[in-house]
Amino acid sequence: MSGDVDRALEVLRAGGLVAIPTETVYGLAADAANESAVRRIFEAKGRPADHPLIVHVASAAQLSDWANEIPTAAERLAATCWPGPLTLLVPKAPHVLPVVTGGRPTVGVRVPAHPLTTELLTRFGGGLAAPSANRFGMVSPTTAQHVRDDLGDLVDYVLDGGPCPIGVESTIVDCSVTPPQILRPGGIASEQILHLLDGDLSEASGPSRASGMLASHYAPHARVLLTEDRAEAAQLASDIEHTEVVDRTADLVDYARHLYSDLRAADARGVSTIVAVLPPAAGLGHAIRDRLMKAAAHRAD
Ligand code: TXA
Ligand code: MG
Repeated sequence: MSGDVDRALEVLRAGGLVAIPTETVYGLAADAANESAVRRIFEAKGRPADHPLIVHVASAAQLSDWANEIPTAAERLAATCWPGPLTLLVPKAPHVLPVVTGGRPTVGVRVPAHPLTTELLTRFGGGLAAPSANRFGMVSPTTAQHVRDDLGDLVDYVLDGGPCPIGVESTIVDCSVTPPQILRPGGIASEQILHLLDGDLSEASGPSRASGMLASHYAPHARVLLTEDRAEAAQLASDIEHTEVVDRTADLVDYARHLYSDLRAADARGVSTIVAVLPPAAGLGHAIRDRLMKAAAHRAD
């Protein structure tokens, strides 16, 4: 395995793109301090240039390399949740490239929890700018094969770390505002963030709203219909041709882990409609509902 990390390091140091495994989804990484390497990420994904990237680092101690100041909330969340599925927005240090932040005054930083990527980041020393390794607007990849299917030769090397255990992206908390805001529900439950911040959290609003909040994100090719009810899902599926039901509400960890593979597999089978059962809005359910609603919004037109 470390031979693979050697190769990934070589590619990154030469300004190339490497798909990296994380506990959430695969990322498409480049040296965050190399402007032309970071530009290649946007080209490969077909992503608009004003969508900022998350900087991935090896440990919480490196937050100060990227932040101009570390708000108390960020310090507190980092201490408990890193390494893990949490991205913190903090005021950016002067050297952070505008291509990484989309010209914003804040930078998103995360310490991912995956042994191969931890080894890679530790040996790399710097930060890796990485969005999810999918084409813009499509569902995120949770296996190395998903990355190859989406990006093919556009990625120089895929570091295969197996299937991602969590399966949905990190929770994004904007700590540059008071009180902090959750911009995207994700792998760490909002209830836990609220608890760690002693309730000092507000609704997402204002200029930092993450682009992942756009209605048209995370969409498969098939039309997605949503229901809160299993029986209704079965009814819809029997009424409409070429339909598949996605429902893992019995186990939300399993639902999150397999959500994107389920949507991709349905697409690969050529179904025209996916009927997905929404889990209750609690714990991981927030993130699953968010991604399913975005997948459904895409085809609402
Ligand atoms: O789990 C994850 O977060 C994965 C893995 C690879 O780490 N990454 C990921 O990146 O989901 P991406 O780029 O697909 O989604 C990050 C979201 C985007 O919607 C981006 O606009 C937002 O975070 N974002 C990043 N930095 C930001 C900033 N400074 N201000 C506002 N939004 C920001
Ligand atoms: Mg993404």
